[in-house]
Amino acid sequence: MKATLSISGKTKVFGCIADPIDHVRAPSVFNPLFEKYGVDAVMVPLHVSSKNLETVVEGLRAMPNFGGMAVTLPHKLPIMKFCDEIGKQGNLVGAVNFAAFDNNRKLIGDNCDGTGFVNGMLAAGYPVFDKRVLMIGAGGAARAIAFSLADSGVSSLTITNRTSTKADELANSVQAAYPSVAVNAASADPHGFDIIINTTSLGLMPDDDLPLRPDLLEPNQLVAEIIMNPEDTPILKAAKAKGCKIHYGRPMFDHQVSIIAGLFGYDFKM
Ligand SMILES: NC(=O)c1ccc[n+]([C@@H]2O[C@H](COP(=O)([O-])OP(=O)(O)OC[C@H]3O[C@@H](n4cnc5c(N)ncnc54)[C@H](OP(=O)(O)O)[C@@H]3O)[C@@H](O)[C@H]2O)c1
Repeated sequence: MKATLSISGKTKVFGCIADPIDHVRAPSVFNPLFEKYGVDAVMVPLHVSSKNLETVVEGLRAMPNFGGMAVTLPHKLPIMKFCDEIGKQGNLVGAVNFAAFDNNRKLIGDNCDGTGFVNGMLAAGYPVFDKRVLMIGAGGAARAIAFSLADSGVSSLTITNRTSTKADELANSVQAAYPSVAVNAASADPHGFDIIINTTSLGLMPDDDLPLRPDLLEPNQLVAEIIMNPEDTPILKAAKAKGCKIHYGRPMFDHQVSIIAGLFGYDFKM
């Protein structure tokens, strides 16, 4: 295997903390970026069980050359109690997906799933301010996206989900945090919306149902996806066929990487 990193005593160390660990993507995303931007840093996978989380966090805090970590399951919520500060989105969502140590070894955690989505839309030329948005799904990613959409000033947000109680609960939480935005839970009827977002996992598998009836889409609408693979999910293909604008799932991920890199102290343009 080709060695792409030159590690010395000066190399700054970052981690990606998870259990299980084999599937994590962050090291294979960050290490090529460190190399591309000439940054003397490395990201390593940290396989940490829930019962050892506190011990590991305190150990990492004691290592001045350890800068921070991408946080994934099952630690997104439990690590919050070992953080000294949590950002606004992390508090609203109730989970963090990265945490960085500052110069005083305080651990700052936050959630950038939703900001990554909104920044990806903006970078593609699709502002969300003042838009009427239908979001399909009320899972983990949807929760983060909903708070970020409200924070970005959408005029209304309607949430629909297979398990309707989860849509109700999420709509109530977002409405309480952002009273000026009209938030409700309803069925997956896209009529009257500017932007429709699929945050469900429907589309990952070739024989999945579509998340909404494509014949109800209108050509002036934008249909956004957060699934990255396949790139052209069935709902995006159907939306394209109806003449809608579409937005892929990948920019959400790229913009999260950019935000996390910023918190680690680096300016990586994606
Ligand atoms: N682009 C990115 O950076 C990014 C980031 C995070 C996630 N994602 C993608 O987003 C998707 C969701 O992730 P997540 O973490 O939010 O997952 P999650 O918490 O498990 O939520 C899954 C969502 O999909 C719905 N769903 C699942 N199967 C369904 C079915 N057969 N029919 C109708 N609805 C169904 C669930 O509805 P119920 O509540 O009824 O179960 C729930 O709303 C995944 O495909 C993931 O790869 C992308």
